Amino acid sequence: MALKLSFLAMILFLLLASIAKAHPSVFDVTSATYGAKPGSDVSKALAKAWSDACASPLASKVVVPSGTYKLKEATFKGPCKAPIEMQVRGTLQAPANAGQLTRPDTWVGFQYIDMLTLSGGGTFDGQGALAWGQNDCHKNKNCKPIPINLRFEFITNSRVQDITSLNSKNFHMHVFRCNHTTFQHLTITAPDESINTDGIHIGASTGINITHAKIGTGDDCVSIGDDSHQITVTDVTCGPGHGISIGSLGRYKEEKDVTGIIVKNCTLTNTQNGVRIKTWPDSPSPSTASDIHYEDIIMVNVSNPILIDQLYCPYTRCDQKPSSKVKINNVSFKNIKGSSFTPLAVKLVCSRGVPCENVELAGINLTYGGDQGPLTSLCSNVKPTITGMIKALGCATSSLAPLPLSKK
Ligand SMILES: *[C@@H]1O[C@H](CO)[C@@H](O)[C@H](O)[C@H]1NC(C)=O
Ligand SMILES: *[C@@H]1O[C@H](CO)[C@@H](O)[C@H](O)[C@H]1NC(C)=O
Ligand SMILES: *[C@@H]1O[C@H](CO)[C@@H](O)[C@H](O)[C@H]1NC(C)=O
Ligand SMILES: *[C@@H]1O[C@H](CO)[C@@H](O)[C@H](O)[C@H]1NC(C)=O
Ligand SMILES: *[C@@H]1O[C@H](CO)[C@@H](O)[C@H](O)[C@H]1NC(C)=O
Ligand SMILES: *[C@@H]1O[C@H](CO)[C@@H](O)[C@H](O)[C@H]1NC(C)=O
Repeated sequence: MALKLSFLAMILFLLLASIAKAHPSVFDVTSATYGAKPGSDVSKALAKAWSDACASPLASKVVVPSGTYKLKEATFKGPCKAPIEMQVRGTLQAPANAGQLTRPDTWVGFQYIDMLTLSGGGTFDGQGALAWGQNDCHKNKNCKPIPINLRFEFITNSRVQDITSLNSKNFHMHVFRCNHTTFQHLTITAPDESINTDGIHIGASTGINITHAKIGTGDDCVSIGDDSHQITVTDVTCGPGHGISIGSLGRYKEEKDVTGIIVKNCTLTNTQNGVRIKTWPDSPSPSTASDIHYEDIIMVNVSNPILIDQLYCPYTRCDQKPSSKVKINNVSFKNIKGSSFTPLAVKLVCSRGVPCENVELAGINLTYGGDQGPLTSLCSNVKPTITGMIKALGCATSSLAPLPLSKK
């Protein structure tokens, strides 16, 4: 009898455990416990729901139901006891005037979390218009910090999916020291003329995938900074914006290498650049950017479709004399088609001091329909292998002389 009972108890326990596993504990910010209401500020309710969920020994889910809520700021910090999901179904709205944030550079931050899922189909609305007008960071080194919509730091084995980031005041998403994390089914939107509203910036991270994202902003759709490794960007549409970029690199002391970047099956429309690697001419210390592969890319009316720019120098005046110390190595551009808005469709301007090595151009078919001269290409300090393309696109001109500095 006792045996039978304990057997039944065990079955019951297993059943409950499996239910708990299938249905994570839900922490709904609008429940009586947390009391959030559409139209009002949910900062406190959300912080409390997060800390309860994070302390839960079983998988948990924080839910922001549909509706529009104000959110002054949020920092969601781990480590948590179990996998945790933040499901935003509604819209979270930042104050138009950032005012005094605890972290002036961050609206919503996630830190030190393993197995995070951010999802729900909702929107993070940064309400950036006012901030774009006040942004003077391009000419003022000591400008006021401007909040980034979503900042991910020390996040591992996680997913960010089915969310929209809208009109961020600064970068939309900043991914720093994160590993093995996927960003998918995202919509990131800000106007063409909004300043510094990069879509997703990745730095010091390994094993990051960005896939099925629709990104249109006033700056880079995706940018990859130093110490990034095994980053793949696939099935992304970009435009308007400044394209998909590696860099800028070589601006600061002791930057680490970039390795293993794949950009595949992406479409860029009306962007300033297509696929670009940018490094500053006067880098303080050496580093490398290697194993970078671009494949199956469609360009629609892109101003600089294929660009390596080792004389990158926006706004400020750089010292043009020293050449970049960032060594670019093992780079391929394959099957890149479509239209260029300028006649110079392929421009590879490598460092005089450390020329690019092992660069491949294959199957590039870009057209130019304007009246600014014939379609052409320029290669400097690089001798790529060229296959399956017309002469005009395969280093038709070359220059070893210092070139005029890029303006943007
Ligand atoms: C990510 O991986 C790198 C090297 O693979 C490691 O040094 C770092 O500690 C990891 N970061 C986190 C947050 O786990
Ligand atoms: C990212 O994509 C690569 C290549 O498709 C795959 O090997 C890797 O496991 C993916 N990483 C994650 C975190 O899903
Ligand atoms: C390429 O990306 C588009 C989305 O931009 C997607 O619909 C399509 O399925 C992808 N193609 C392949 C072969 O993966
Ligand atoms: C092509 O790109 C240029 C420069 O970005 C832009 O001014 C123009 O409107 C675009 N053309 C079309 C048809 O979108
Ligand atoms: C470049 O690629 C070759 C062949 O795939 C490889 O042996 C070499 O280690 C790579 N170099 C760098 C710096 O990644
Ligand atoms: C390049 O693309 C154009 C139109 O996009 C096409 O007419 C032409 O045949 C292509 N050339 C090659 C060599 O594939």
